[in-house]
Amino acid sequence: MSDHKTHFGFSTVDENEKAGKVAEVFHSVAKNYDIMNDVMSGGLHRVWKHFTINTARLKKGDKVLDIAGGTGDLSRGWAKRVGKEGEVWLTDINSSMLTVGRDRLLNEGLILPVSLADAEKLPFPDNYFNLVSVAFGLRNMTHKDAALKEMHRVLKPGGTLLVLEFSKVYKPLEGVYDLYSFKLLPVMGKLIAKDADSYQYLAESIRMHPDQETLKQMMLDAGFDSVDYHNMSAGIVALHKGVKF
Ligand SMILES: C[S@@+](CC[C@H](N)C(=O)[O-])C[C@H]1O[C@@H](n2cnc3c(N)ncnc32)[C@H](O)[C@@H]1O
Repeated sequence: MSDHKTHFGFSTVDENEKAGKVAEVFHSVAKNYDIMNDVMSGGLHRVWKHFTINTARLKKGDKVLDIAGGTGDLSRGWAKRVGKEGEVWLTDINSSMLTVGRDRLLNEGLILPVSLADAEKLPFPDNYFNLVSVAFGLRNMTHKDAALKEMHRVLKPGGTLLVLEFSKVYKPLEGVYDLYSFKLLPVMGKLIAKDADSYQYLAESIRMHPDQETLKQMMLDAGFDSVDYHNMSAGIVALHKGVKF
């Protein structure tokens, strides 16, 4: 037990417990993760990721780190952009998610380096990557400030961080979004993934995640410059971008 508390969805837990609880969620959902993403978002997650991939200014031969990469949607996009001469690392803290991602990419003929890695202690050298991405992962991390600092450390000067994450929806839509998140989402999770609790956690963790301006400030505090964000789907998600100078 430590004196430090944090959030796991709407529950307050000991800091030492959070990573284990998050691990349970993703071990449980890994097999159905991709189908659930399509069903829950009505396919919109593909648009959000497509926009993210097109935002990056990458060139052939660049080095990219996909943190909390899960089943590999962004990694696949990065690999196409940097070509065979580039380097794209698919990483995640969760072996079940990473195994699904690795197998999926292999089935598509993409052989990428894969690493089980905690974003808070990245096993990569300083100043190595041209781009670091994290999609729908930051929300689940216990020490987001430490993770952002690690992302800054491994980027080359001039390199970019892209954070795609759920954010604060526009006020007029809050009622209907809450109804969807807290009534429909857990039912879908139960029917499709046989796991209502993980999707209840998803809805709760989104509400506890820093809003657009707070995350922008956190990125500035971690050392990033030129930080800005772009809302998508009325703020349901936001893409934050920061540069290491
Ligand atoms: C919602 S999934 C996102 C997967 C993928 N990036 C996507 O957009 O589909 C969140 C991922 O974050 C990973 N994760 C949670 N905490 C992490 C940490 N401290 N370091 C690395 N990955 C973490 C989980 O294991 C999970 O695979």
